[in-house]
Amino acid sequence: MDLCDHARAVRENAHAPYSGFKVGAAIRTASGAVFTGCNVENLAFPQGTCAEAGAIAAMVAAGERTIAEVAVVADSDDPTPPCGGCRQKLSEFAGPQVPVTMATLEGRRLTMTMAELLPGAFSPAHMGRV
Ligand code: THU
Repeated sequence: MDLCDHARAVRENAHAPYSGFKVGAAIRTASGAVFTGCNVENLAFPQGTCAEAGAIAAMVAAGERTIAEVAVVADSDDPTPPCGGCRQKLSEFAGPQVPVTMATLEGRRLTMTMAELLPGAFSPAHMGRV
């Protein structure tokens, strides 16, 4: 199954009553496993979480840490990219060449690498932890 199809499917479960903007994310790990997440908003707005954060949490909870591919699906005219915070969260587990495919419900797609989405990323090397 195409990774965008996973993201599109989990997007249906998003809890987005405040923004009305549902997002689905899917991660394929080095092992080939797929983990998904959707945005979960909260009445106390800052407590809401992004779809990518949910997928990352599911991946780590399952004992995996190496992202091979990411897909993000939203109902926008142009493909929706991960927000700034999610780019940093993804970079914890995704190397610079990992592809991130953003897709609209109409099927428009844009694929960028992590390095393109987060140039100059703060990395473990900066803390001497390569
Ligand atoms: N959102 C995501 O889930 N991922 C992103 O990278 C962009 C934004 C969600 C957060 C919020 O629930 C809604 O989209 C509107 O910002």
